[in-house]
Amino acid sequence: MSFNNTFLRAARGEVTDYTPVWFMRQAGRSLPGYRELRKKYDVLTLTQTPDLAAQVSLEPINLLKVDAAILFADIMLLPIAMGIDVKIVESVGPVIDSPINTKADLAKLRPFEPPKVDFLAQTIKLLRNDLQVPLIGFAAAPFTLASYLIEGQPTRKWLKTKRFMFEQPEAWEALMTTLTDATIEYLKVQVAAGAQAIQIFDSWVGCLAAEDYRQAVLPHTQRIFKALGELDIPRLHFGTDTAAMLTDFANVEAEVIGLDWRIDFAAARTLLPHKVLQGNLDPVAVVAGPKVFQPRVDQMFAGMTEHRNHIFNLGHGVMPETNDQHLRELVEYVHGK
Ligand code: CP3
Repeated sequence: MSFNNTFLRAARGEVTDYTPVWFMRQAGRSLPGYRELRKKYDVLTLTQTPDLAAQVSLEPINLLKVDAAILFADIMLLPIAMGIDVKIVESVGPVIDSPINTKADLAKLRPFEPPKVDFLAQTIKLLRNDLQVPLIGFAAAPFTLASYLIEGQPTRKWLKTKRFMFEQPEAWEALMTTLTDATIEYLKVQVAAGAQAIQIFDSWVGCLAAEDYRQAVLPHTQRIFKALGELDIPRLHFGTDTAAMLTDFANVEAEVIGLDWRIDFAAARTLLPHKVLQGNLDPVAVVAGPKVFQPRVDQMFAGMTEHRNHIFNLGHGVMPETNDQHLRELVEYVHGK
């Protein structure tokens, strides 16, 4: 089999023979091989063991026939490399016993050094030997990373994060600057090892008012994308709940903008006529199955020109409740469009 570069070509805005598909959180979650491995190893151990992590990244390529692989890692590997003690708690997510609350707490974040994530470089090299589709590396955007560091656990209110940002602007700026510097180096390690595209996940940024986003967050994210420019790889920017700030969110040097399901694809296209758009099927539609997802996919493709400028994905990660067969059928359905 020869190398399938459809994803990379679409990400650069070229016309492709068909619309490429991959899924956020396609590695892990519901797949049988991953579930088997999880009986023996916790998530962090899997991400830190190159041959196992590579195995998890490969599983959806063979099983689902998606057009890109994503590195099996987690956004919290960067703060771990910076000396923060992170636990991944089952059914909860990342937990930090001593979160960042003050400017003095910033001293807990040590400078990032590439050897600390040598395991990721090794995983990437193993994957590049085996893969016939492009490999996507990733990191969190500084806002989403800061939210875990400040809250100490997943939240849906972001009370501490926003208070920190509003009440301690100087400390916030320092934290964002530190995270931005580290993220740039962390992504450079991934690309040097062989990652062929980079996605920045700002999963929780949609909780902010647009003006706060512009003032306190966007300049840092912009700096990351600008720094990646010299690496000559497609850059993807994803967030959820970004409909009300989409033109600001897209105001970065990224080739591809990822959308969640809350915004109509056509509305996003009107706002961002020159960007490649990635998304944006509601993940629950895949849990429900073909009868539910097919008309929604049809709707998304309605009115698209030959130059679709589109990478198909869900509006957020694959839900653990998803049937693999539904994912397989969805890939086939989109490829047939
Ligand atoms: O979903 C997103 O918004 C993407 C960004 C993101 C990742 N990790 C990337 C990731 C976020 C916000 C996290 C934090 C995190 N880490 C959570 C979410 C907690 C919350 O606030 O809701 C959780 C549960 C973890 C721990 C974790 N990371 C697990 C249990 C796994 C294994 C697979 C799974 O999702 O159950 C991971 C792997 C992981 N995190 C990947 C990515 C892109 C691996 C690649 C992939 O699955 O595609």
